[in-house]
Amino acid sequence: MSHALHSAVPTLPFEWYLDQAHFQRELDAIWYRDWLYAGRESLWLREGDFRVVTIGTRRVIVLRDGNGELQAFHDSCRHRGSSLCTAEAGRFATGRITCPYHQWSYALDGALISTPRRPALEGFDPADHGLQRVSIARWGGFVFLNLDPAPGHDPEAAFAVEMAGLASWPLDRLRSAHTETHVKAFNWKVFWDNYLECVHCPGVHPQLCDLVPVYGTGQLRLDDAPGVQGAAAEVEPRLRDGARSWTSDGQCRLPEFDGLDPQAIGPGMRFATFVPSVFMVAHRDYVRTVSVRPIDVDHTEVSIEWLVHPDADTAAIDLAHLTDVGRTVVLEDARVSEFAQRGMRTRPGANGVLMPQEYDVRAFQTWVAARLRGDALAAPVWEGDVRVES
Ligand code: FES
Ligand SMILES: [Fe+2]
Repeated sequence: MSHALHSAVPTLPFEWYLDQAHFQRELDAIWYRDWLYAGRESLWLREGDFRVVTIGTRRVIVLRDGNGELQAFHDSCRHRGSSLCTAEAGRFATGRITCPYHQWSYALDGALISTPRRPALEGFDPADHGLQRVSIARWGGFVFLNLDPAPGHDPEAAFAVEMAGLASWPLDRLRSAHTETHVKAFNWKVFWDNYLECVHCPGVHPQLCDLVPVYGTGQLRLDDAPGVQGAAAEVEPRLRDGARSWTSDGQCRLPEFDGLDPQAIGPGMRFATFVPSVFMVAHRDYVRTVSVRPIDVDHTEVSIEWLVHPDADTAAIDLAHLTDVGRTVVLEDARVSEFAQRGMRTRPGANGVLMPQEYDVRAFQTWVAARLRGDALAAPVWEGDVRVES
């Protein structure tokens, strides 16, 4: 069924992509309230391993405690608020987090255990001054945080629909083959506006359009064009004949996952989308995550990770073969996204107009607007039933 828009719909105002005060409103309404991707659980292997996850102006310490559990705390001392971490990642090898300012120290479960040079003080109970917790959830080896003190969205409910399509992949046991991070000059919404349409594909992604011919039509699905009908399998994007994966020659050089659901892997790729922070795409031989983090109104950090079969020899992987297509697509998208940001800045009072195939851009922008109004929508209501990176 076609999801195409039938009438010209305005985009969000360009000002929403350009104005720092508006950016702060989006942090408050969206980024500080949603489940956000923080990384693979394997980043925290040993007791005391920590990483700081920065979201807007917020810093969160994520660590593994003495019971083997992941914990997350605001990176702010309960004495006078100092940041606790002198590095962005490392290990609290002593089992304590010690503030660099006046040396208060905390256990890995956040309890305040020492306040040096504090004479007796009436009305001060250390039990009331533990680190402030941030909610944390895990799914398939992926770690998510939520900065809302009382998250409005149950993580299971937030993940379940999108993750269902990836149920036959051994997500918990995937191994990381490669990670890279790029800082780009566009607003975080430009990333999703671009991801959610394929009108740009023929002009921007020649290699990808060769690998996935439907993308070369400028559509997410063939039935986005008027008059095209057919079963989902006939109209959805799929690899060209003979190709098995998104690699430089379309072939798999890594062990393929056993027991994949034929329907899920049929097209050769399966997407799961978790606006605002990450999407995942699963293939026969690897899973790739692309995560975004807003830095300021004009800058976004984009990280890509390639996850492979648990039995793969990660030291022997041909990384160029594995990573070429995914990196190329992200960088091609980033290039035109920077053009979009730069061009909007020259007409700050204007807005654009959506084309028929941009129905999921519409869904995303409608969701952003609803969240800014205070509506507690956990996720956009996607029109298409297949997510594509385009
Ligand atoms: S601010 Fe941390 S001990 Fe004073
Ligand atoms: Fe693209």
